[in-house]
Amino acid sequence: MLSDLIKEHIVSPRNQGVIPSADGVGEVVGPTCGDQVVLYIQMKDGCINRASFTTHGCWAAVAMASWITEMVMGSTPAEALAVDGEALAREQAGLPEDKWPCARLVSLALHRAVRDCQRRQSG
Ligand code: FES
Repeated sequence: MLSDLIKEHIVSPRNQGVIPSADGVGEVVGPTCGDQVVLYIQMKDGCINRASFTTHGCWAAVAMASWITEMVMGSTPAEALAVDGEALAREQAGLPEDKWPCARLVSLALHRAVRDCQRRQSG
């Protein structure tokens, strides 16, 4: 059963859109559905200050991206890399099993955004 929290993100998704001056961008395309999820992060004082997303994915991808971008604001890169979209979808959001891969896409895009940011900082 869907949690109240995820229902709220389904009805009113947050953090949609591009961050033009993002410090890290992560893009993923679903291997089976072909939907794209892009995560943008902006850093301040070593933590994620702002996160946003764009996607052509389904309602579950939108809701999970909304929740996860909200969740990681204020997180360190290590904390963001530990976010497991599928586990959140299964254990907290109550998404149906066929939507777990959509949540996995979101956390994978987040991880890629963090690694992109780390690459830019070390370069
Ligand atoms: Fe493609 Fe959900 S079906 S993101």
